[in-house]
Amino acid sequence: MRAFFCRAYGGPEVLELREAETPSPKDDEILVKIVATTVNSGDVRIRGARFPKGMGLIGKLALGISAPRQPVLGTELCGIVVAVGSKVTRFREGDEVFAFPGVKLGCHAEYRTLQENQRVFAKPKNLSFAEAASISFGGSTALHFIRKANLRAGEKILVIGASGAVGSAIVQIANHLGAEVTAVTSTDNVELVRSLGALNVIDYRHENFAASGETYDVIAETTGEHTFADCRNSLKPGGRFLAIAAGVPDMLAMIWSSKLYGKRVIAGPAGESNDLVQQIGEWAEAGILKPVIDRHYRFDQLPEAHAYVDTGRKKGSVIVELAP
Ligand SMILES: NC(=O)c1ccc[n+]([C@@H]2O[C@H](COP(=O)([O-])OP(=O)(O)OC[C@H]3O[C@@H](n4cnc5c(N)ncnc54)[C@H](OP(=O)(O)O)[C@@H]3O)[C@@H](O)[C@H]2O)c1
Repeated sequence: MRAFFCRAYGGPEVLELREAETPSPKDDEILVKIVATTVNSGDVRIRGARFPKGMGLIGKLALGISAPRQPVLGTELCGIVVAVGSKVTRFREGDEVFAFPGVKLGCHAEYRTLQENQRVFAKPKNLSFAEAASISFGGSTALHFIRKANLRAGEKILVIGASGAVGSAIVQIANHLGAEVTAVTSTDNVELVRSLGALNVIDYRHENFAASGETYDVIAETTGEHTFADCRNSLKPGGRFLAIAAGVPDMLAMIWSSKLYGKRVIAGPAGESNDLVQQIGEWAEAGILKPVIDRHYRFDQLPEAHAYVDTGRKKGSVIVELAP
């Protein structure tokens, strides 16, 4: 099979398309022929060794010192089961599935083996392969943080970076849960975030949310550009700050923010559980969570997809399609 290998940290040019052995499924695994995958903020962070403020050393210890230990990137996929191990009970050849290997990566390839009980589910029937490939990374991150915040109906949430993969999912899930959503975005994305369920929109190029005097029960910060210190006056008493792209300052603020200000900082890696991915799939099938797709690329154009995601301007997800 063909796969893109990331053999060093650097720009999109470090990605090489190479032949590799097609894996064989173990007893409890399925082999999936990948039809669509994404290039997301996680992939370009790993490829470029671009970690949040103060997290460089920890990032490289976790992922690999001079190059990613897992050289084939790609966190999510949708495809067709082409072989099953002898103990597999949930899937059979020909099934259409979506999956979220997450930090285990390995989706920028023509095939991937998956343990049948590790974040793999039937493709929502109403979604294309590209759409189904796009829902897990942003959706499960959004749901993880919304659950941690215990967001309730009637509460007010401010979503900073509402047009990204994570932000667009937070807007939709928060709206579904009955919260009042205010989205922070740029002029080009105002209509998009309104269509996803934002009641109020702040165009950050013209307006500073922190200067408005408005306060929120929850602030979801997905851009890494605003710390708890920047936002705490915009939180109500008992408010929760979701530092989704947290650097060291917000990691430390987790320790003292409640005691000092009565406001909680929630940061750290999102959980990668079956439960999160299953819920996202069910909401997508029910039309509650709509995939937001920006551009499509062919598999051989994957480095171009990385270059586009590197701009930081993508809306929702960037898809890479393999031959069906
Ligand atoms: N904690 C975790 O486990 C976890 C998991 C997943 C992702 N993350 C992190 O979460 C962050 C967001 O991920 P993502 O995949 O959603 O990113 P993304 O899709 O690449 O975000 C791009 C979007 O961010 C918007 N944006 C950029 N600067 C902005 C600003 N100052 N104000 C408002 N919007 C702004 C852009 O809109 P405009 O063009 O309109 O500016 C663009 O649509 C990343 O740093 C990622 O590493 C963390």
